[in-house]
Amino acid sequence: MSRSVLFSRNAAALAARALRLVATGVLLTALAAVARPAAAQAGDEALVAKGDSIFKGLLGNGLCHTCHGPKGKGMKGLGPDLTDGVWLHGNGSADFVQQLVRTGVPAPKKSPTIMPPFGGMPLTTEQVTAVTAYVLSLRAKPQGK
Ligand code: HEC
Repeated sequence: MSRSVLFSRNAAALAARALRLVATGVLLTALAAVARPAAAQAGDEALVAKGDSIFKGLLGNGLCHTCHGPKGKGMKGLGPDLTDGVWLHGNGSADFVQQLVRTGVPAPKKSPTIMPPFGGMPLTTEQVTAVTAYVLSLRAKPQGK
């Protein structure tokens, strides 16, 4: 057997092994891509549920419900409706809501009352993230729910 034949056989075997590795890699990547959104969604739901508890004062002594109502629909003369998709102070993004919760609203546009920083309770960073997820989920619900 000539040297070049031996060489090309080895090369072919190597190429086949490389292909198998690549195929496994592609498969694993595809599997990870399928699994990831499902996990993220479950995480979001847990976060929203936690935010719901904070909003209603069951966790972290959150006071949001006293001004925005237990379902975020607002209370006359106190906090505005958070479910109507109308934002007096920003663009409705997660960054905006989180920032607003931290600072509160020292100069309200319509309400005669201010919103104190963190809604009046010292919420942790994690609790602010959770209550923000809850506020954003309110807007996503169809009207009347
Ligand atoms: C003492 C009453 C009070 C409490 C407690 C309170 N808010 Fe507010 N909130 C307000 C007022 C007042 C405004 C501004 C209304 C205005 O500008 O007329 C406001 C505004 C907001 C806005 C922006 C609405 C917009 O249209 O831009 C968000 C979001 C919000 N509050 C979330 C929360 C969350 C979450 C909590 C609990 C951590 C909370 N608030 C607790 C009174 C309150």
